[in-house]
Amino acid sequence: MGNLEEVRVALTQEQVREALKQVKFPGLSRDIVSFGFVKGISVSGGEVQVEISFASANPEAGPRIEADARRAVEALPGVTKVEVQLSVQAPQEAIPRRRLLAGVKLKVAVASGKGGVGKSTVAANLALALQQQGLTVGLLDADIYGPSQQMMMGASEPPRVTAEGRVLPVEVAGIRVMSLGFLMDPDTPVIWRGPMVMKAIQQFLEDVEWGELDCLVVDLPPGTGDAQLTLTQQVPLDGAVIVTTPQDVALIDARKGLNMFRKVNVPVLGVVENMSVFVCPACGHRSEIFKKDGGRRTAEQLEAPFLGAVPIDPEIVVASDAGVPIVLSRPDSQAARAFQEIAQAVLRQLGSGRS
Ligand SMILES: Nc1ncnc2c1ncn2[C@@H]1O[C@H](COP(=O)(O)OP(=O)(O)OP(=O)(O)O)[C@@H](O)[C@H]1O
Ligand SMILES: [Mg+2]
Repeated sequence: MGNLEEVRVALTQEQVREALKQVKFPGLSRDIVSFGFVKGISVSGGEVQVEISFASANPEAGPRIEADARRAVEALPGVTKVEVQLSVQAPQEAIPRRRLLAGVKLKVAVASGKGGVGKSTVAANLALALQQQGLTVGLLDADIYGPSQQMMMGASEPPRVTAEGRVLPVEVAGIRVMSLGFLMDPDTPVIWRGPMVMKAIQQFLEDVEWGELDCLVVDLPPGTGDAQLTLTQQVPLDGAVIVTTPQDVALIDARKGLNMFRKVNVPVLGVVENMSVFVCPACGHRSEIFKKDGGRRTAEQLEAPFLGAVPIDPEIVVASDAGVPIVLSRPDSQAARAFQEIAQAVLRQLGSGRS
């Protein structure tokens, strides 16, 4: 009878893998299979062995995942015994954070709670403004959903790879630019990119030869989901700049962004309000299209420093599309001057102000 039952249910590795997809990593919406934490599955009759290995500083993650995995597999028909081999490493062992970006003094992320607020524009112009303050600067486009720095910075050449397998950033206007866009097949559907790139990104970060940099500006993907959280944990950041727009609704998203960084202990350097006022290019009249001083109020409400406001300027769009950001193309414009002030404010917040 027992034999018959075994034949009928003929448990497969694939069924076990499917079952393990129900096991979420504590605190995240992704499962342990898509993270690549399930290293092995063996099935012998009704006996299942599962090998799980990952890095986490959370002491509860191991026992939780072990229990959840056991429960998920035991629920499969025909399973008689489940053995979970669990290995949890301390994060330092898995991610050599100190080695990662070792030659880079300051790592600053530019983030936003929602898309389209001008995060990439701020990242590119901030990088250039910092360079004009005399710093050696790199710009990493880590926006896996829509990398745009290749276009904004006019980095048309792909990076070169040395014989030793080191990836050399593309040098544009004295800035070392690297984009995850160089890694990705543009035909890959966006939903696949998260899991794929998360695995590749650490390797990628290790392989890039940034050299000595005073500051690396990181353009993060918009939002506060798992991809953003993973990135903020993988890149050892010194601080984050949150970009927002002057509408009340933007406050909610900005707060989400802020909380994400607080959760991972990355200091929030402050809030930049983008697209604040419209200054008529013909007569210089300032139209408050949205609310006045929204950014300053947002910063107050979020208890974060206010770094500056960038006006709406059609030249910004022209400049970005042409691959020459406004700090370079129109250095005397109000917007360019705003970016210079923001760069100074960022340096002050980082405690390395150069007056
Ligand atoms: N201050 C501004 N004035 C006028 N246009 C702007 C301003 N800031 C950004 N833009 C334009 O708005 C669009 C969105 O900007 P950007 O790509 O920087 O946003 P983003 O937050 O990075 O978007 P995504 O979430 O898609 O990555 C671009 O066309 C950009 O040129
Ligand atoms: Mg962007």
